[in-house]
Order: sequence, then structure tokens, then C-alpha cells
Amino acid sequence: MTDASSPTLPDSVTVIRHPLVQHKLTLMRQKQTSTGEFRRLAREISLLMAYELTRDLPLEDVAIETPLEPMQAPRLAGKKLCIVSILRAGDGIMEGMLDLVPSARVGHIGLYRDPETLVPVEYYLKLPDDVSERLVIVVDPMLATGHSAAAALSRLKQAGAGQLRFACLLAAPQGVSVLTEAHPDVPVFTCSIDRELDSHAYIRPGLGDAGDRLYGTK
Ligand code: URA
Repeated sequence: MTDASSPTLPDSVTVIRHPLVQHKLTLMRQKQTSTGEFRRLAREISLLMAYELTRDLPLEDVAIETPLEPMQAPRLAGKKLCIVSILRAGDGIMEGMLDLVPSARVGHIGLYRDPETLVPVEYYLKLPDDVSERLVIVVDPMLATGHSAAAALSRLKQAGAGQLRFACLLAAPQGVSVLTEAHPDVPVFTCSIDRELDSHAYIRPGLGDAGDRLYGTK
């Protein structure tokens, strides 16, 4: 399995190795994990991912008063957050991030692959008006071919987003290459880089179809 120790992994890619994240990911991969459990794990793991993704947010000191005395205390400074979910499976990740950052704004982007050209086509886009002033975290559980993620980031840049991060549960090596070559400026966070993408564009060993497992569809 490729991982952060691979010499080919770009600096912009972080594999989140926290033991709780890895444990929950293993439970999500298991085929016997029920829909309800899978959804709960997705929420928990994405909360932990949000913790890593926001590790470097700037702080500023402000004057407050505790019940005992005044003090200078740190609070978040600068850009506010926006989480953009790539429909539909991104919603399963977005929910957990909102548990940690409830004031974040939310955007959605929907893309489908044109069966003839295989090019991602946008069918839905809704973003907050001030997206250009926010740190935008784009979420999709599976970075498979990388084409949808790259198209989503291009569209968000076109809409004015200036500071972007991408978060997924699992990535295929090919998806990482496509995304980081198209957007070398965008930090990518994943919990694992799996062995390969198969001929049906499934990540192997993977966890199956993330949308189907989240929503109990087939
Ligand atoms: N999307 C999924 O849900 N699973 C994969 O393995 C690849 C893309």
C-alpha cells in the first residue's frame, strides 16, 4: 500500500494516521458493517479529520473576563470556514465536520460523468455568497479517478474560492496524482492511500460504494 512514506507522495498530501481514525476506517471497510453503523462511523471519522484539517488555523488574542479576572485569550482569527460537499457521498463527511465547526457555511456541488466523453459535467452548484472570503474544505469520501475532485476544485476557484483544502476517507494513487497535478496548491487530506483503482473505477481494497453504504442503496 502506498503511504506518506512513499517518495512519490507530494508534500501537499497528508495521510491522517491517528489511531482512532485508522480503527474507525477499518470498521467502515468491513462488509458486515451495517448502514447505520457506517453512517455513524463516517460522522465520527470526519469530525476527527476536521480536527486535523483545521490544525493550523490562525488565532488572535482577545480581551475577556473569567469569573475571577480579565485575561487575553486566543480565539480563531481571519477566514471563516465553508464546507463544500461533492454530492452525494460528500454529505456523509460534511455532517461530522459540522459537528466540530457548527458555524461553517455549507456548499454543494453535483457532477456526473458524461458517458460519451467521460468528462465531469456540473448539474448542481450552490455556494455561500462570500465563498471567496472563506477557507473552503471540499469533501468527498472517495478520491478514485480524481477527475470529479479536480473539476470541483476548478469550479470553486472559478467561483472565487481562494483558499481550498480537499478531504477524503480513501484515495487511489491515480486519484492523488490527477488531483495534485491539477491543483498543486490545494492541500489534500486522506485517511489511507489504497493499493489501486480497478477497471470499474473502484478503489481496492477500498470500502465499496461509499454513497450506497451511507444511504443503504444499491
Ligand atoms: N466511489 C466509491 O464510492 N467507491 C469507490 O471505490 C470509488 C469511487
